[in-house]
Amino acid sequence: MLDFKEIVVKLISKEVETLSEEEIISLIEIPPSYDMGDYAFPCFRLAKAFRKAPNLIAEELASRFGDNVNFEKIENAGPYVNFFINRNKLVETVLKEIKEKSSGYGSSNLGEGKTVIVEYSSPNIAKPFHIGHIRTTVIGNSIFKIYKFLGFNTIAINHLGDYGTQFGMLIAAYKKWGDRKVIEADPINELLKLYVKFNAEADLNESLRDEARYWFKELEDKNEEALELWQWIRDISLKEFNKVYDMLNIKFDSYAGESFYSDKMEKVIKEMELKGILKESKGAFIVDLEPYGMPPALIKKSDGSTLYTTRDIAAAFYRKETYDFYKNIYVVASQQNLHFKQWMKVIELMGYEWANDCIHIPFGMVSLEDGTLSTRKGRVVFLEDVLNTAIKNTLNIIEERNPNLKNKEEVAKQVGIGAVIFQELFNQRIKDYVFSWDRTLSFEGETGPYVQYTHARATSLLEKGEFNLEDDIDYSLLKTEEEVNVARLLYDFPNVIINAMEKNEPYFITRHIIEIAKTFNKFYNTCPIISEEENLKKARLMLSYATKTVIKIGLGLLGMEAPDKM
Ligand code: ARG
Repeated sequence: MLDFKEIVVKLISKEVETLSEEEIISLIEIPPSYDMGDYAFPCFRLAKAFRKAPNLIAEELASRFGDNVNFEKIENAGPYVNFFINRNKLVETVLKEIKEKSSGYGSSNLGEGKTVIVEYSSPNIAKPFHIGHIRTTVIGNSIFKIYKFLGFNTIAINHLGDYGTQFGMLIAAYKKWGDRKVIEADPINELLKLYVKFNAEADLNESLRDEARYWFKELEDKNEEALELWQWIRDISLKEFNKVYDMLNIKFDSYAGESFYSDKMEKVIKEMELKGILKESKGAFIVDLEPYGMPPALIKKSDGSTLYTTRDIAAAFYRKETYDFYKNIYVVASQQNLHFKQWMKVIELMGYEWANDCIHIPFGMVSLEDGTLSTRKGRVVFLEDVLNTAIKNTLNIIEERNPNLKNKEEVAKQVGIGAVIFQELFNQRIKDYVFSWDRTLSFEGETGPYVQYTHARATSLLEKGEFNLEDDIDYSLLKTEEEVNVARLLYDFPNVIINAMEKNEPYFITRHIIEIAKTFNKFYNTCPIISEEENLKKARLMLSYATKTVIKIGLGLLGMEAPDKM
């Protein structure tokens, strides 16, 4: 696709020898409003080399650029040179590209030959999949899709929390109070009850914690009873998690969880020892991180059992060997910032540069309107319930608004679940947020249903207008402000995806498709379409087709569906 920014860079670079193309790219700005141009080049940095005031330089540059078919005008405003893209060119360029690429518009081979691992979701077995997990699941899934769309070889890993002391706790609790039949009838709730009861009792009676530690040690030592219970609990929990993944249409390439590394830690610990970074401290083994301003990384407890950190280190080595990753991404809450810094530092101290390719992508906390969530106390909102409530609610709304809609249940699922995903990806991921049923399920304002509805509206318009993608289009007919504004946003979309990838921020896409939806609706309400003369009608339908296509791609990258009717 014709790259107007690149043309601007080339033009400037020819006139300004003192700046490299990279420097020019970094200087170019997008003016706050279109009447100041599509791109602006500030001349302050040139004052020394040109021995002139910046506005004189801008004036001189603008006059030297002269006429250019790709720009309506190039002129200076004070110390800036402003570039106004030729609207005809813009509209034609972007619509032709979307016509040709269709659902592949914005995709690329940027990542060819590079493997990116996205680890996300990673719930703890035997603990419920609660609303706190929705963040990693939804953000991770979107990041995964974005990399994939840009041509990276992507691997989705679910690093299940299927090991560790909490498992000892569960085995101990089960042996005291558990009933297999009761648990199998309602695994997650019953396991949660056991977990909560155990914690409550252990607060009164410390020796229970020793029992938990004992059972985890037994598990690590491959005690048969412990292993059997572990396998059973893992299986029934995973089955429950998969229900949620199915609802969200998520699949992982690997479910190698913490237990997978139980036999892969010894080798790594040996290497730390050989490299002289492992220290004994009160019978336990640590890596001292004081010089880096961090508490020590605990590698092995005094009873010989390993830790969360040890497993993460072993997992990173395994991934490097197995996938030779370009990036190894972890979508995990910001509460674990220190944990990730620590173990990545350990790998660096072991002498591996690829430690820098391991990237923690943190996100903020979710709280309930009446206080924080706590699994220990059993105060949880189950993700499955959230999704089901959203679906039920959506179905009610559809019954009201569009009772004759076919496959209502299916659409309610796509819209209800979409609403939850959209609101999750609406803000910068690091921001904390308060979970609110009202906001999640609202159909007004900047929400998922609004964007999905815009897509459905464009789709039915195309049907009504009997749009045919093969028709010849006179693009020069699209010249109103409303039409050009839509085209501009569509033109920017591929760059928005790249930005979202570089910053690992799906919300760039969320915000951009909201803008597209709003701008399209403005066009739709201002410019008659079906009633227009044939050629203009065709051109406007083409713009609608392009909008619908881009919204659908955008929603897809967020992990959402785009129903044709709703
Ligand atoms: N299971 C952990 C939790 O729910 C998250 C695991 C994060 N991933 C990792 N490689 N440590 O808190």
